[in-house]
Amino acid sequence: MNKNKVREMLSIKYPLFQGPFGGGYSTPSLVSKVSNLGGLGGYGAYQLTPERIKAVIQEIKQLTNKPFNINLWVNDADADNEISDELYSLIVANYKEYFDLLNVPIPDKPKPVAKQFEKQVEMVLSQEVPVFSFVFGIPNPTILREFKRRGIKTIGAATTLEEGLLLEETDVDLIVASGFEAGGHRPSFLLPVEESYRGTFVLVQQLAKRISKPIIAAGGITNGSAASAALTLGASGVQVGTAFLACEESGITEDYRNVLFSQRANNTILTKDFTGRIGRGIPGILTEQVKLDRTLPFPIHSQFIAPLRKAALEQGKLDLIPFWAGQNVSEIEFRKAAMVFNDIVKGLI
Ligand SMILES: Cc1cc2nc3c(=O)[nH]c(=O)nc-3n(C[C@H](O)[C@H](O)[C@H](O)COP(=O)(O)O)c2cc1C
Repeated sequence: MNKNKVREMLSIKYPLFQGPFGGGYSTPSLVSKVSNLGGLGGYGAYQLTPERIKAVIQEIKQLTNKPFNINLWVNDADADNEISDELYSLIVANYKEYFDLLNVPIPDKPKPVAKQFEKQVEMVLSQEVPVFSFVFGIPNPTILREFKRRGIKTIGAATTLEEGLLLEETDVDLIVASGFEAGGHRPSFLLPVEESYRGTFVLVQQLAKRISKPIIAAGGITNGSAASAALTLGASGVQVGTAFLACEESGITEDYRNVLFSQRANNTILTKDFTGRIGRGIPGILTEQVKLDRTLPFPIHSQFIAPLRKAALEQGKLDLIPFWAGQNVSEIEFRKAAMVFNDIVKGLI
């Protein structure tokens, strides 16, 4: 049985992964709690400097002696990072109303952002973490060989069958099937994101049929029944994001948590408007009104609108801003990680 393969491979009790979160929403507390309960906690570190990554890993190691996962983005800045004056003016015109409304000065034209992956991955390697996961591409073979040589297990993410087959060829240990129900960015890397939308249960079936590596289902799983259904369809484990994001142990604010448990959460959308790359979240007035067909490139779009987000939060104008969340957020019941964990694990035993 593949779920036993995952348990043995990672030395964990249950094939239940807590999805890593970028954006400052991962915490050592949540990661260690899930790992201590017998699952695999995950920390999203793509925005951190190598020094900060080292500190986070040390903090997690103080809270658990069980395996955990550190996650990076292979492609963490878009190629067309250099922006024209024309594009900048267009984006400013689209957002001006909201900067004025919140009394926030319009930021100067942002400078290109340097890619960080190579330096970050060196640090992750040097810290000998138990598990390394990555999205938005595949690290080069030298890097992957180095993880293997040090006995660090690797997890890649696929949004289509073709991406899954490529990941299998490169000999990663496990593959996350990231369905388009999932909260956060769509991490597609072969075809454009818009051509890579697959539902979790379709993707799991397609990957499990043709790939021998264990497949971990991600997207829309918030309870034991969904976890059990994923195993029935051929998954060897599940990765849960939004249900853990909503817990007290995550890095979100109380306001964010309240939105996740509100009527607003009945609707999520896929949009580029949060950051410049397509992801799923609960729309805000700002997202819906602006409805851009163009944004600044990732990640400078999110830097451009960050002051708007900050001001809206400070001024209590939560309706204005979007919040990351998966499609099944409205089904979430629990606010403590152990309760989420115990509920989902029932479907994996
Ligand atoms: C706020 C947020 C941030 C995320 N950041 C990352 C990330 O940096 N790296 C990653 O691999 N997955 C990231 N994800 C995806 C989750 O790890 C997980 O795969 C996904 O949330 C599962 O779908 P669900 O939200 O429907 O449970 C993020 C998800 C959310 C909601």
